[in-house]
Amino acid sequence: RQRTFIMVKPDGVKRGLTGEIIKRFEQKGFSLLNAELMTMDRSKAEYHYMEHQDKPFFGELVDFITSGPVFAMVWEGENIIEVSRLMIGKTSPTEALPGTIRGDFANSKEENVIHGSDSLESAEREIENFFGLLRRRRLEDDFPFEDRKSV
Ligand code: GTP
Ligand code: MG
Repeated sequence: RQRTFIMVKPDGVKRGLTGEIIKRFEQKGFSLLNAELMTMDRSKAEYHYMEHQDKPFFGELVDFITSGPVFAMVWEGENIIEVSRLMIGKTSPTEALPGTIRGDFANSKEENVIHGSDSLESAEREIENFFGLLRRRRLEDDFPFEDRKSV
């Protein structure tokens, strides 16, 4: 069984969509393993979105994701990485189909309610970033982003 990292973004939390999103994952038969409402610092956000660090919108993306609390979760289930991406829907509102979370609730490419890991490797890295050893030891402030890339 696979694990993935799912996060209700600040717009989704503000709009009160957390319960609806949890409900969809529960109804699909997936299991919730961990969850926490938290506000990401820039270091955590930059690590989370490191694949986009050279994109022109990277700064805006980090500003948005740190702008308020997110609801971070670890879910488990059969093929959950692929299936959760289907449930979430495409990034762009003109491509996200009705019936998907973004298709039903998002109308912006920048503020699109929810994040889900796109591969086994990113799921592991993202779960570690939010719920892993670094956080458990509360070392984040003493362990800069640059140093974390090699972990
Ligand atoms: P995530 O689950 O959040 O990773 O979304 P995704 O996998 O569907 O999309 P991708 O990883 O390609 O992009 C990550 C996030 O960057 C998107 O969800 C958007 O919120 C944001 N994003 C994408 N394009 C733009 C853009 O042109 N401007 C801004 N500000 N944000 C963007
Ligand atoms: Mg992505």
